[in-house]
Amino acid sequence: MEVLHISAECYPVAKVGGLGDVVGALPKYQHELGWIAKVVMPCYKTGFLLDHAFDLVHQGGSWLGQTWFHFNVLKEKTNQLGFDLYLLDIPGLLDREGVYSYPDDPERFTAFQIAVLDWLSQWHHHPDLVHCHDHHSGLVPFMMAHSFKFQALRDIPTVLTIHNAQYQGQFGWDRLNYIPGFDLWRSGMLDWGGMINPLAAGIKSCWRLTAVSPSYLEELTYSAAGLDSLFRIERAKSSGILNGIDTRIWDPETDPYLVKNYGMNQAGPGKKINKESLCHTFGLDPALPLFSFVGRLVGEKGADLLTDIIGRSLYETGNAVSFLVLGSGNPHLEWVLNDFRQRHAGNFNVYIGYQEQLSHQIYAGSDFLMMPSRVEPCGLNQMYALRYGTMPMVRSTGGLRDTVTDFGDPGGFGIRFDQASVWDVCYSVKRALELYQNPRRLQALRKVMMKQDHSWGKSAAAYIHLYSHIKS
Ligand code: ADP
Ligand code: GLC
Repeated sequence: MEVLHISAECYPVAKVGGLGDVVGALPKYQHELGWIAKVVMPCYKTGFLLDHAFDLVHQGGSWLGQTWFHFNVLKEKTNQLGFDLYLLDIPGLLDREGVYSYPDDPERFTAFQIAVLDWLSQWHHHPDLVHCHDHHSGLVPFMMAHSFKFQALRDIPTVLTIHNAQYQGQFGWDRLNYIPGFDLWRSGMLDWGGMINPLAAGIKSCWRLTAVSPSYLEELTYSAAGLDSLFRIERAKSSGILNGIDTRIWDPETDPYLVKNYGMNQAGPGKKINKESLCHTFGLDPALPLFSFVGRLVGEKGADLLTDIIGRSLYETGNAVSFLVLGSGNPHLEWVLNDFRQRHAGNFNVYIGYQEQLSHQIYAGSDFLMMPSRVEPCGLNQMYALRYGTMPMVRSTGGLRDTVTDFGDPGGFGIRFDQASVWDVCYSVKRALELYQNPRRLQALRKVMMKQDHSWGKSAAAYIHLYSHIKS
C-alpha cells in the first residue's frame, strides 16, 4: 500500500515549526509498518538543496489563471531520509529562501498543488491514498474530486490533517480562474465567509479529516478561527490523532548537538553540564532554576506575555530565577524582548532567530520549559522537553492537555495552569521554584518525565488503521 504526503514543510529539508517535524518523521515510521510513504513538497532554496543530489523525474507545465508556469519534479537520490522525497520546483514562485509570508503565497501554493496533481496524473500507477497537511494542500481534495483535468484521480481517498486552523490561506473570488475547470455549481465547496478558503475546501472535500490531538479536535468545534461550525458539521468523518516525536533524532543519549549526552540514570549530572554551558553562553547563573521558551513569537504561543511574566517573576522571587528565550516571529515582540534583555541582564537573555542546534541545547540544559499557549493543536516542544528531563510548564489546552499531567495529580510529572495570563504563569513559576528547592523530588519526577513514551509508533499505527478503513 502506498501513501503520498503533500506538505509545505518537511524536516530536514525545510522547517518553520512542528509541521516540518511531523512530515519528516511520520512517513519513516509508516514505512516501518509496511506502507510505502512518499513526500512531495515545494523546492525552496534551502541548504538541503545544495547538500544533496537529485534526479529529475518529471517536467511539466500548467496554467494558473492566465499565466503558464513550468515545473520540475526532483527526487532525492539516496533515500537517506527513510522515504522517497520529491521536490516540486516552480521557477519564479517556489525557489525562494523562505517558506511562507510572501504576498503571492496564494499563487505559490495554488500552483504547487496544481503541479502536484498534474504530475500525479502522469504516474503509471496511483497511490492508495493522498494525505494532505494544512491549507497549503487544502485545495487538493477539492481538485481531485471535482476538476475535470484530474478526473483520473477521483477515486483516490484523501485525508486532510489539521495542524493549525488559525491559518486558512484565503483569497478572493477574483482568482477563481486559478482552480482548474470544474462544474461551477460546486463552487460553494470552496467558499467560506465570502472567500475562497483552501482549508475550508479541504475540510469539506476530503474523505477523512484528522486533527493533531483529541483535545484540539474537540476545541475546533467551538473555537477554530471562524471555522467552528464547519468542524461541527464534519465531525462524523473526523478523528484526533496525537503526534509523536522522532525519538532517534531527539535522544539525549546520542544527540550530537549536546555538550554532554546523558540517559535517564545520568540525567542529573548530564543536564547540569549542558546547563552550565548554556548559562555561560548567555551570561546566566547556573545555580538558579532556568526557565526557557522555544517557539514562534506570536500571540498563539502567548509570546506577548513573556516580558511581563519574566519581569513580574523576577520581582516576586527577588531575582531567584533565570529565563532564556529562543524564537522569531512578530518583529515588535522581537524588539521588545531584545530591549528587555538590557534591563535584566544576568537573569534573562534571548536569541532572536531560528537555531536548530540551540533548541536541542535548551531542551537539555533547562530546568523548566514554559508554554503559555493560547492555542496549541498538539505541541512538540513539551514532548522534547520530557524526553530531555526538562519539566514542561503548560497551559491546559489542545495537545498540551493530552500530554502533560500536573505533578500534583496522581502519576503527574509536569506543571499545568488554566489561563494564558501573567498571573497564572507567575504562580506556576513559584511552584516550580519550590520544586527546584527540593532536588530529590525533582530528580524523581525527571525519571517519570523521561519514561513518557511519545515515539511515533502508536500514532503512525493509528494513521495506518485510519487509512485501511476508509470508504467513500
Ligand atoms: P508550532 O508548529 O506551532 O511552531 P510545535 O511545538 O509543534 O509548534 O513545534 C515547534 C518546532 O519548531 C519544534 O521542533 C521547536 O523546537 C522548533 N522551533 C520553534 N522555534 C524555533 C527556533 N527559533 N529555533 C529552533 N527551533 C525552533
Ligand atoms: C502546528 C501546531 C502545533 C503542532 C504542529 C505539528 O504548527 O501549532 O501545535 O504541534 O502543527 O502538528
